[in-house]
Amino acid sequence: MNNPPVRSDRPARARTGRRVALVLAATGTLLAGATIALAPNASAGTTLGASAAESGRYFGTAVAANKLSDSTYVGILNREFNSVTPENEMKWDATEPSQNNFTFGNADRIVNHARANGMRVRGHALAWHSQQPGWAQSLSGSALRSAMVNHITRVATYYRGKIHSWDVVNEAFADGGSGARRDSNLQRTGNDWIEVAFRTARAADPDAKLCYNDYNTDGQNAKSNAVYAMVQDFKARGVPIDCVGFQSHFNPQSPVPSDYQANLQRFANLGVEVQITELDIEGSGQAQADNYGRVIRACLAVARCTGITVWGIRDSDSWRASGTPLLFDGSGNKKPAYTSTLNALNGGGTPPPTTTPPPTTTPPPTGSGCTASVTLNSWNGGFVATVRVTAGASGTNAWTVALTLPSGASLVNTWSATPSATSGAVQFRNVDYNGRIGAGQTTEFGFQANGTAGTLTPTCTAS
Ligand code: G3I
Repeated sequence: MNNPPVRSDRPARARTGRRVALVLAATGTLLAGATIALAPNASAGTTLGASAAESGRYFGTAVAANKLSDSTYVGILNREFNSVTPENEMKWDATEPSQNNFTFGNADRIVNHARANGMRVRGHALAWHSQQPGWAQSLSGSALRSAMVNHITRVATYYRGKIHSWDVVNEAFADGGSGARRDSNLQRTGNDWIEVAFRTARAADPDAKLCYNDYNTDGQNAKSNAVYAMVQDFKARGVPIDCVGFQSHFNPQSPVPSDYQANLQRFANLGVEVQITELDIEGSGQAQADNYGRVIRACLAVARCTGITVWGIRDSDSWRASGTPLLFDGSGNKKPAYTSTLNALNGGGTPPPTTTPPPTTTPPPTGSGCTASVTLNSWNGGFVATVRVTAGASGTNAWTVALTLPSGASLVNTWSATPSATSGAVQFRNVDYNGRIGAGQTTEFGFQANGTAGTLTPTCTAS
C-alpha cells in the first residue's frame, strides 16, 4: 500500500531513545551525532495525533478544501492531526457532477495536503442516499445500480493506494425501532446493493480498509442491532468488510450512550475494526470536556478501535456551529474539551493488534454428525445469537440445528440459515451455500430475536 506512515511525533522508540540518551549522557559517552538521533521530539505527547499514536491509533479531523488557505486552520491541522477525512469533496455530487464526468480537484487538494504532511486519508463516502448528483437522483433500477458500480470503481481506482479506510456505504439503515433498511433509490435497486458496493470497492482498491458508516448506532439499539446482523452475515458469507464507523454526533437529545464502549466491543468481536468517524459533542465547559473524555477512553479500551476523527477543527468550522461541538473555539484556541481529549489519549489504552489474530482452532472431531454452539449478545428486550456449526469426522452435505426459544421470544431476522418457525421449537436448516462443511470445519449462522434468550441448547443433525 502507498499510504504514508502515520506521523507520530512520539513513536515508542523515541521514549526508549530518550532513556538511552540520558544513560549515555550520564556516562559521558554521548556523541554529537547520537544526540540528534536520540533526542525526544519537543512536542512528545502534547498533540492529539502524537498522543493517539502512542497506542497505535490515529486522530483525525474532517477537512474542507476551501479552508486550506486559512493559516490558522492549517496551523492547527498540521500540528494536531495525523488523519483527514474530506468533509464533502469525495461525495458523489462532488466527484461525478455529470454522469461519467469525474472531477477530483478539491478532493485532490486535501489528499495532497495530507500526504505531504504524513497524514492518513479516510475516504468518505462512496455510496450514500444523500448528496447524490441530480442525474443519479433521477435514476432507478439497473441503471442506478450500474451507475453506482461505475462510480465506486472509478473513484476507488483513482485513489487506489492513497486511502487508509473508505466509507463504502453510509447511513443505509432507518432510524427508529424497525431495524429495517432506509428507503432510498439505492435500496430500491435490491437488498444486495450494500454487498455489491463492498465487493466493487475491494476489487478497485484491494488494500484500503472497507467500512460501513452510520449514526445513531453508537449504543445498542434496533438500528445498531441491524447493522450488527449485517456485518455478522457479511463475515459469515465472505463479503469484504473490514471496519464499522460510528459517527458519534452527540447533543443533549442524543447523548453519549452508557453502553458506548460495550457496543464498540461487540462489533469488534465480530472481527472488524471499529472507528469513531465523525465525532462532535454539542455543549461547553467541563460537561462537554467530560463527554469527550468518555468517548476517547471507550475507544482506547477496545483493542480494535483503531482511530478517532472529529468532524471539524474549530467550532466555527462545524456543520452545526451553533452547538459549539468541537475541540477548538472559533479563534482556534484549545477548549476544555481539547484538554480532556488529550489527557484521555495520554492515559494509554489497549493497543490495536498489529496483525490479524489467528482463527480459533477447534480440535478435530472424533464422531460423525455435527455439533453446534451459541454465542449471545443480549440487551433489554432482545438478543442476537450466533450459532457455530462444526462438522464431525465425515463432514456434512446438509445440516439442521434445533433449539427451543423460551416463551415470549420470537425471531425477527435470520441469516445464513432458514428457520422452520419464529417461536418455540425451531429448526434452522442450512442455506444453499453452507450445507457442505468439511470434516472438522465450521460455518456460522445467526438470528435476531425479541424477548429474552435464557439458555439456548442447540442440537445439530448432519446428513
Ligand atoms: O458549497 C455550497 C455553497 O456554494 C453554497 O453557497 C451553500 C449554500 O447553502 O451550500 C454549500 O454546500 C453545502 C456544503 O455542506 C458545503 O458547506 C451544502 O449546502 C450543505 O448541505 C453541506 O452540508 C454537509 C452535509 O454533510 C450534507 O449532508 C456538511 O458540510 C457535512 O459536514 C455533512 O457531513 C455529514 C457526513 O457526510 C455524513 N454524516 C453526517 C454528517 C453531518 O451531516
